[in-house]
Amino acid sequence: MRTQVGIVGAGPAGLMLSHLLHLAGVESIILENRSREYCEARIRAGLIEQWATDMLVETGVGERLTREAMFHDGNYLCFNRALHRIDFRKLVGKGVTIYGQQEVVKDLIARRLADGGQILFEVKGTNVYDFDGKEPKIAFQHDGKTKQIACDFIGGCDGFHGVCRPSMPPGVLTNFTRDYPFGWLGILSESPPPDHELIYAYNERGFALYTMRSPTLARLYIQCAPDEDIDDWPDARIWEELHVRLGGTRKLAEGHIVQKSVTPMRSFVCEPMQFGSLYLAGDAAHIVPPTGAKGMNLALADVRVLSRAIEAFYRKNRTDLLQNYSATCLNRVWKAQRFSWWMTQMLHRYNFENDFEMRRQLAELDYVTSSQAAATSLAENYAGLPME
Ligand code: DHB
Repeated sequence: MRTQVGIVGAGPAGLMLSHLLHLAGVESIILENRSREYCEARIRAGLIEQWATDMLVETGVGERLTREAMFHDGNYLCFNRALHRIDFRKLVGKGVTIYGQQEVVKDLIARRLADGGQILFEVKGTNVYDFDGKEPKIAFQHDGKTKQIACDFIGGCDGFHGVCRPSMPPGVLTNFTRDYPFGWLGILSESPPPDHELIYAYNERGFALYTMRSPTLARLYIQCAPDEDIDDWPDARIWEELHVRLGGTRKLAEGHIVQKSVTPMRSFVCEPMQFGSLYLAGDAAHIVPPTGAKGMNLALADVRVLSRAIEAFYRKNRTDLLQNYSATCLNRVWKAQRFSWWMTQMLHRYNFENDFEMRRQLAELDYVTSSQAAATSLAENYAGLPME
């Protein structure tokens, strides 16, 4: 088999890369080790930055999103038993879209297949090699047979635990990491969210986030231990924490809990994001803590840069955009890292014995919600920094 771009991974990064390349007249094949059903059901965050929403609509994969998503002009920070609204629309003229990541995945898979795209699901033993030479290759097993794809470029879109990043030669990558002493316990509940916009709540007992997938389906998170045992959290305990952490600012309806999971918290960046003709994108190259929901947005930003660089190579024989891929992406990645870390450190309890930290966090929350300059900075980052 031969194609122009071999893509490892059918998450948002791999699928969007394939879609953008197709629109630019470039062929690709996607390899994915999971099943289509698994990819379409995998629950992740559900907040899309303004430019990314625009890109989905402008590139023809926003039809269902336009019909079903919720469009928010602001959100709330909750502390000291009061809600404080940040009005993104007024401050920076942008909003955010609430639409589950797996809905974006479903829409992209449907569109790639309708456009004749090739996605091979449930492949095994994927191995990328020769990307330092003229013709990179991907070997894998599919339908019980060993196969190989020769290509011009490899898109490493296979996530943090994928094979692409570890395939880089020793000494090429530098890793930057930061761990956090907590995780998020997340539930999906068949009940209305407490407000039609998101609430980020700082509380003495820890952080909580009240978001949603629809007006009747709440997505709720509470700060917990990083190694939290989900069996220690019967439904009644979860609801009790969610009520306490909302500080009486809104009524919280309880509902049937349809999903429960623990989200880990980590900051990670590898530099550079490329070597030879292997280009890493999305979680394969960087992880953000979930506060602010930058993960998928960064993945979409990476592949937009990569697809344009590959298009310029085929159309104009240009290699400068390809050479600059990593530097271009890392500029945005580090700003999103900074913002995700900043939101995380402002809203979570780190040391329950240290009241200095608590007073400092409350001062920061008060500042962010009372200073137009500070609120504008939050809004600008939250709704998404400009792409160009
Ligand atoms: C969601 C998750 C986030 O981490 C966030 O900051 C906002 C929304 C969500 O799942 O809807």
